Amino acid sequence: MMNAIRTSHRVRICAASTLNTDFMTIPSSAAPILLSSQTATCYPASVLIDLTRLPKHVAIIMDGNGRWAMEQGELRMFGHKEGTTSVTSTVRAARRLGVEALTLFAFSEQNWNRPEPEVTALMQLLHDYLISEREEMIQNQIRVRAIGRRNKLPTFVREVLVALERDTSHLTGMTLTLALSYGGREELIDTAAMLAREGVPLTMGSIEARLPSMACGPVDLLIRTGGEQRISNFVLWASAYAEFVFTSELWPNFDEQALFGAIKEFQLRDRRFGRASSGDVSDVDPLY
Ligand code: FPP
Repeated sequence: MMNAIRTSHRVRICAASTLNTDFMTIPSSAAPILLSSQTATCYPASVLIDLTRLPKHVAIIMDGNGRWAMEQGELRMFGHKEGTTSVTSTVRAARRLGVEALTLFAFSEQNWNRPEPEVTALMQLLHDYLISEREEMIQNQIRVRAIGRRNKLPTFVREVLVALERDTSHLTGMTLTLALSYGGREELIDTAAMLAREGVPLTMGSIEARLPSMACGPVDLLIRTGGEQRISNFVLWASAYAEFVFTSELWPNFDEQALFGAIKEFQLRDRRFGRASSGDVSDVDPLY
């Protein structure tokens, strides 16, 4: 068993011989974390994360559930169920690290075209997740919200979603955004139509202020699992200057270690925001 300790501003992942109770307090400012030492996974000794340069907003395209299930000789739904476990561990890991916002692509506008039994099962999984994680979200100060065409979701999902959004709306530890019945182009069209109805001129600023996916700020790090290297109509505007990390890992195999690896990769990138060199980006135009 290996464990993580905090040294100065860095999270060092190290062997259990140096097991330290600081593991429970990463970062030190975090609210109570429900993780116990039993849930610690094995991290490669080389992983070092600079806590002063974390991506504020991480977005993930969770791909590969179906292939993972087929590898096990199971139905696709089995992969989605296992994928829910990865959602839980990723949310915990992001919160524990101090990421401010996590946006997960849980169901796309185009996913409605999947076979009806798969869609029904995904909706049931989502419903169950929103109920089973409720207490942990509240205890860990996680605000939950959804983006996407929520009016298309079945009533039994909408009801638990609205309740969880309401009951966590005051929490500030981390914002977890679930993209449900979501499409990036649809979001842009819906936002532009709303602004037009209100007579608000379409400008970079007016669109940005009203785009639901921009409510937590632009995406800094976009991760896609499952081996494909495309954005698939996810947070199109918000990821304009995101760093992309593509991993061949199938989503049910994604865990804290994989998230830490992606963040480490992010920290190796030189973010220039259109400039010649990264230098001091403190005066970067908020519209890039
Ligand atoms: C893509 O994998 C994944 C989805 C369409 C659904 C994602 C859902 C979950 C991770 C679980 C439920 C979510 C929450 C938030 C509780 P795929 O089925 O396209 O995989 P494939 O490319 O291998 O076929």
